[in-house]
Amino acid sequence: MKLEYVDNSLKDIKADLELIVVVDKNLEHRFCAKYKDILEEMGFGAEQDEVIFLPESKKVFVGSQSLKSKDIRPAVATAIRAISSKKYTSVKMATYMSHQKCTATVRALVEAINLGKYNYTRYKTEAKESKLKRVILSSEEYNAKDVDKDAIKRAITKGIETSLAVNLTRDIVNTPPDDFYPKKMARLAKDIAKSENLEYNILTKTEIKAENMGALLAVARASSHAPRVIHLSYKPKNPKAVVSIIGKGLTYDSGGLSLKPSDFMVTMKSDKSGGAAVLGIMQAVSRLNLDVEVHGFIGAVENMIGGNAYKPDDVLTAKNGTTIEVRNTDAEGRLVLADMLCYAQEKVDANYIIDMATLTGACVVGLGNYTIGVMGNNDKIIDKMLYAGNVASSEMAAKLPFNNYLRKTLKSSIADICNISNTRYGGAVTAGLFLDKFIKEENKQKWLHLDIAGPAFVEHEWGENPHGASGAGVRMVTRFIEKLSDSKHEDN
Ligand code: BES
Ligand code: ZN
Ligand code: ZN
Repeated sequence: MKLEYVDNSLKDIKADLELIVVVDKNLEHRFCAKYKDILEEMGFGAEQDEVIFLPESKKVFVGSQSLKSKDIRPAVATAIRAISSKKYTSVKMATYMSHQKCTATVRALVEAINLGKYNYTRYKTEAKESKLKRVILSSEEYNAKDVDKDAIKRAITKGIETSLAVNLTRDIVNTPPDDFYPKKMARLAKDIAKSENLEYNILTKTEIKAENMGALLAVARASSHAPRVIHLSYKPKNPKAVVSIIGKGLTYDSGGLSLKPSDFMVTMKSDKSGGAAVLGIMQAVSRLNLDVEVHGFIGAVENMIGGNAYKPDDVLTAKNGTTIEVRNTDAEGRLVLADMLCYAQEKVDANYIIDMATLTGACVVGLGNYTIGVMGNNDKIIDKMLYAGNVASSEMAAKLPFNNYLRKTLKSSIADICNISNTRYGGAVTAGLFLDKFIKEENKQKWLHLDIAGPAFVEHEWGENPHGASGAGVRMVTRFIEKLSDSKHEDN
């Protein structure tokens, strides 16, 4: 699909449809006043994400609570999704800037178009291909004059690259486990590295053994698919900071011998979402030419059962020598991440260490399906991440605080730490505290843990997200890195 920005007023642009965003519930704004009577007659209330077509007038309207990006993104994405399922081949719209200096809405609009257009059809034999091929943004403004067109163009580029990265992550997560196992993940990482000019290093099982990653290897043992450790790096000339991102890449999580019940196993192809997000972010930071050195690490592993499976009661030795009593083989993500965190800290001296994982069901219970759990030891960077999510990119995120009482619940009588807590409460936090055990003292303040178990894969449409994979964390973390890159950060 082509997205164009043209220096023409709306009436001079040819298209099958015009998309009009309605903020004013009285329907009196100049963009919709002419249609007030008919819209009212048809019962259009301009509610958030409410879409209505007026085919005779070649118009489609969508309600949005405000022109803020958090509202306009889901509204426009929902409208584009509705348009995509019909016969229209082209749509035009204004850029809806709420203020002449504020390009945030433009970026959100562009993201919304690509995010709303996304549809995973790879496994449909008769995929209904969307006819929508062109979206034309007009320079005609909603209520701002004398806008900076170059700033708008920059916002458009950023919007395109972030949304393409999100869609790349969605494709990876949606791919069924038989077609996407660790080796495939490594192959794709290599392809991305080559096309984006990134350095790459991929460890095979033998090389992983040489690294003493006993915890990761134990999780991988019963699978017929050997694990891979993936490391991509983006190294600009004079970086303002160095960031390591570590993704949980469980290409399938059956639970292992602590087998998941059938209903809970379905959707566990999404347990690679953290790793998939890392790949999306690597593509985005490289295409946006950010002035930050970014290292992406992925532990790509499949958690299966079998005669040689690792067992509850086993004691594993992680790369840093820490011994771990296994009491539940379904708490495997933290085992893989333990070794990956050790590896990442050994390889790169980073200013920020961010792990991303579909780590706990408890995080979904606590925050619901739509919110990322943010944990760490440094409130300042936690707040920066929450801002990058809740404010800058409209990915919802909330802090889950650590405490030493919960830390104690991970004690083991026979090893240094246990892979599950002895209490059933606070499971997202205790998982985070387990990871903390593998963060070196000098890095404690640099580390953030993002539990994306809720939003990474949701079995219904929500806002700008389709049924299935959402690409959770890609927008938020990309924004976090953008901010490090740009001292005079444009808040779009
Ligand atoms: N991958 C799951 C967590 C998960 C659950 C992600 C639901 C997405 C949706 C993880 O490996 C897991 O199974 N965690 C266990 C931990 C428990 C055994 C301490 C859980 O959350 O039940
Ligand atoms: Zn699990
Ligand atoms: Zn898992």
